[in-house]
Amino acid sequence: MNKVSHNLAWWQSGVIYQIYPRSFLDTTGNGVGDLQGIIDKLDYLNNGSKGSLGIDAIWISPFYPSPMADFGYDVSDYCDIHPLFGDMATFNRLIEEAHRREIKVIIDFVPNHTSDQHPWFIESRHSRHNPKRDWYIWRDAKPDGSLPNNWGSAFGGPAWTWDKKVNQFYFHHFLKEQPELNWRNPDVRAAIYEVLRFWLERGVDGFRMDVVGFLIKDEEFRDNPPNPDIPDNLPAENIYARQLHKFNEDQDEVHTIIRKFRQILDQYPDKCGIGELGYGLERWVRYYGENGNGLHLPFNFRLIHLPWETRAIIQSIQALEVILPPWAWPNYVLGNHDRPRLASRIGMNQARVAALLLLTLRGTPTMYYGDELGIKDGVIPTESIQDPQGLRLGAEYSRDVGRTPMQWNDSPNAGFSSKRPWLPVSADFTVRNVAVQNDDPTSILSLYRRLIWYRKASPALMAGRFCAVTPGNDDCLVYRREHPAGQCMIALNFSGNSHHISLSESKSGHLVLSTYLDRNETVSLTNLQLRPHEGIIIELNL
Ligand code: NOJ
Repeated sequence: MNKVSHNLAWWQSGVIYQIYPRSFLDTTGNGVGDLQGIIDKLDYLNNGSKGSLGIDAIWISPFYPSPMADFGYDVSDYCDIHPLFGDMATFNRLIEEAHRREIKVIIDFVPNHTSDQHPWFIESRHSRHNPKRDWYIWRDAKPDGSLPNNWGSAFGGPAWTWDKKVNQFYFHHFLKEQPELNWRNPDVRAAIYEVLRFWLERGVDGFRMDVVGFLIKDEEFRDNPPNPDIPDNLPAENIYARQLHKFNEDQDEVHTIIRKFRQILDQYPDKCGIGELGYGLERWVRYYGENGNGLHLPFNFRLIHLPWETRAIIQSIQALEVILPPWAWPNYVLGNHDRPRLASRIGMNQARVAALLLLTLRGTPTMYYGDELGIKDGVIPTESIQDPQGLRLGAEYSRDVGRTPMQWNDSPNAGFSSKRPWLPVSADFTVRNVAVQNDDPTSILSLYRRLIWYRKASPALMAGRFCAVTPGNDDCLVYRREHPAGQCMIALNFSGNSHHISLSESKSGHLVLSTYLDRNETVSLTNLQLRPHEGIIIELNL
């Protein structure tokens, strides 16, 4: 295999592919995807040949036993597999089969909250004196009977639910079915550290840590201040978005726990901790730890949230490059199971430009299943909404749209399942699916494959310095990736107009890849032509 690694760890050199297991492939005919479905598609993901996608790691969203109030992010047993998805034997086979193909396996780890059906919570709510009482966050009502503080749930309404049995409130940032663990309790810490070890012993390569900045709350549970920038048309029940999150998350003490997570990971060779964290750059960068004793990769979601405009994007990339200490490794994310689909956010033409951007920036790219086909948001009738966020805050908040079944072929249910899938397949599946795009050398799937395999063999893309270049117009984004073994220039046209860029560089180069997949030619940098929505990679002659 033509691959350069430059002493980078796999989580630095590799491309991560997120799988939402309910929606990938159903092998049991119950309309829900499963672990066997992932095994069956490993060759599609990477069989070592350029005919496969070429990704290096999969991150699988939760597959644990769960009542599925939040589709698996409400875990009732941290150390088992939900029968919907398979069993431990299937999981072991998945690890073995993935590793046989040199694919790393990252699993979702949900340490902040459990399901209300977790035996720990069932015990905890039993009585005020139960030994597990302090494993969760219980508070009396204020003397006037009101809530302990003003914090809101991210899914709407207050973050407190009254438990009649013992006349106390318990705390949850998400659904009332997701009570929050008390991370100030040493027994809770010890129990969850054991969970990490349990999966490390089973051979997983890394963890994507759910809302890891939420673990520690202000000791006094002080009220949050109001958010001065409340978005327009915010539903009244969205208390969470009406506040600044000064006291409920990103507390300094959380870093002690993160360091401990890291110590546990470091007891095993070559493991990786990724955090789901959405803070401003200066707060966010702290999650790498001091001198790298924190997370390997705090997820960087900024490109998802920014307007798709060259200025905003280049500023974000440069700000990241500036703030990262030399030992810290960047990463970029363009889509996940909590957001509308990339192709719907920025349009199908720009989805190809986005692919080129993601796979040529300095840092680990994480892509979301189906984005390699340009899958768009599903159309889910209001009465069929499944996502608790959509059900509570309104259809426009529903995350179902980005979780529709993977589109494998044009057979009924897109080859995802023999039965009616848990969410409807997108209407365009007959024309937008793996089988059709496989045979089309200019499809977006072909583009992703070409980019991923090209990246693997390119020292500049894998390990080169990032240098922004001023293109002389606002529609185009241009940068160089510089490495002693080679340099390349990337130029991206974010607009529907053609552009002629003249870079005052004497160098010429070879255009090796265009998002249209139809160019392979020598070009002069003083006279670069970009068609509408075109992105290109040029290998520079040094
Ligand atoms: C973040 C996850 O990505 C999201 O899907 C989930 O609903 C919340 N955390 C709660 O676990």
